[in-house]
Amino acid sequence: MDKDAARLARLRRSHPMLGDLERRAARRLPRFAYDFIQGGAGDESGLTRNRAALQSVQIVPRYGVNVGAIDTSATLFGHRYAAPVGISPIGFDGIMWPGATRLFAEAAQRATIPYLVGTLATETIETVVSLAPDVTWFQLYPLPAEDHRVSFDLTDRAMRAGAKVLVATLDVPTRTKRPRDLRNGFVMPFRLSAGMLGQMMGALPWSVALARRGRPNFANMLTYSGGGYEPTARFVQQNVGGGFEWEVLARLRDRWTRPMMLKGVMHPADAEKALSLGIDGVVVSNHGGRQFDAAPASVDMLPEIVRVMDGRGVVMLDSGVTGGVDTLRALALGAQGVFAGRAFMLALAALGDIGARHMTDAFMEELRNAMAQSGITGVEQATGLQTRHPGAWTRADFGGPDE
Ligand SMILES: Cc1cc2nc3c(=O)[nH]c(=O)nc-3n(C[C@H](O)[C@H](O)[C@H](O)COP(=O)(O)O)c2cc1C
Repeated sequence: MDKDAARLARLRRSHPMLGDLERRAARRLPRFAYDFIQGGAGDESGLTRNRAALQSVQIVPRYGVNVGAIDTSATLFGHRYAAPVGISPIGFDGIMWPGATRLFAEAAQRATIPYLVGTLATETIETVVSLAPDVTWFQLYPLPAEDHRVSFDLTDRAMRAGAKVLVATLDVPTRTKRPRDLRNGFVMPFRLSAGMLGQMMGALPWSVALARRGRPNFANMLTYSGGGYEPTARFVQQNVGGGFEWEVLARLRDRWTRPMMLKGVMHPADAEKALSLGIDGVVVSNHGGRQFDAAPASVDMLPEIVRVMDGRGVVMLDSGVTGGVDTLRALALGAQGVFAGRAFMLALAALGDIGARHMTDAFMEELRNAMAQSGITGVEQATGLQTRHPGAWTRADFGGPDE
C-alpha cells in the first residue's frame, strides 16, 4: 500500500462528512481563501436554495434485488468513465490549495472520472492533458478582445493538447458582487493587504504548501500576458469577461471538431438554442450560486431541460452536488452525469494533497451505496426509479400545456 493509500484508509475510518471538511478547511486556510470557495452572489440565497432543492428530491428504495455487483461506470461522449461524476472548473484554484489543478488532474486520471479544467486554472491545458490524458475536458471563458483572438487560440490549444470535450461557460455576462470577497479585499487584480498577510501567517499548512509550490498564476494566460504575476492578473482582469453571444458560440462550434457543451444553461429555450447550433450537450448549472441569487436551483430546472433535450444531447448537472446520493438524484431525474466544485475544493483545503483522491473515493462509495438502496446495479437504470421532486419547474411554468 502506498503512503497516500494508508493515509486515505485511516481517514476513511474517521468518516468525515462535508461539514467536517468545511470546519477543517476554515481552520487551515486564510479567511479570504476559504470565503472565496464558499461564497455566493448577493445574500447567498442561491447557494442555500441549491442544497435545499437537492435534498428535497426523494427516491423510493427498492429491495429484494441482487446488488452484489454494482457498476457505477458510465459512457459520456463515447468514453467510458468509472462514474458519471466530474470535477468542476475552479478558477484560480491554486490560491485555495497550492497545486490544486495538478492534484485534481492526477486524482481524476487515477479514478477515471472527467476533469473539466478551467481557462483560469493554475496549470496550463497542455500540462493538465499530460497528467490526465484520458479524462481532461476544457472549460472556456470568453476573451472578447480582437474578435475573440485569445478565446479561439485557447480552443485550438485545447484541441491540439487532446482535451476530449469543450465546455463554454455562459453564465458570467458580467462580474457579480460576492460580498465575502469584497469585504476581504479579494478582488482582481489581487493585492496582499496587511490583514491578508496576517491570515496567511495563521494558516500554517496552507503557507507551507504555498512555499513548496510557489505563487499560483493563471497559467493558460502567460503566453498572452507576457508572463509575471502582475501583468497576468491585469491581463485577466482586462480581457476575461462578458458572456458568450450565440454568434460566437456558433463559430466555436465550427472550429471545435470534438463534442462541445454549454455550461450554465438554465432556461429550456437556451437548451433548444444550443441544440440548433449543433451543441452536443448542456450542463444545467447556476455556477454554484455564485452569479445570481434569484436563479432557481439548477436541479429544479433539470427535468424540464431533460424533456426539451429529448435525448438529442447529453445533460449534466452541477450546483450543490456533494456526493453519491446527489449524483443518483440527478441521474434519476434524467441527467447523464454531474459535476461538483466545492466538494472537491473543500476536500483539498481540509486534507491537503490527498483531498481530491479522498473525494473521488467518497463519491464512488456513496454512489454505490445509494444504488444498492435503490435496487439498481447500473447507472442507466436510474431513470426508472420512483422520485418525488417538489420544486421542479414544469412545461406549464414556461407557458406550455400542462401535462
Ligand atoms: C471558487 C470557485 C471558482 C469557480 N471558477 C469557475 C471558473 O473559472 N469557470 C467556471 O465555468 N465555473 C467556475 N466555478 C463554478 C463551478 O465550475 C461549478 O459550476 C460550481 O462550483 C458548482 O457548484 P458546487 O460548488 O456547489 O458544486 C467556480 C466555482 C467556485 C466555487
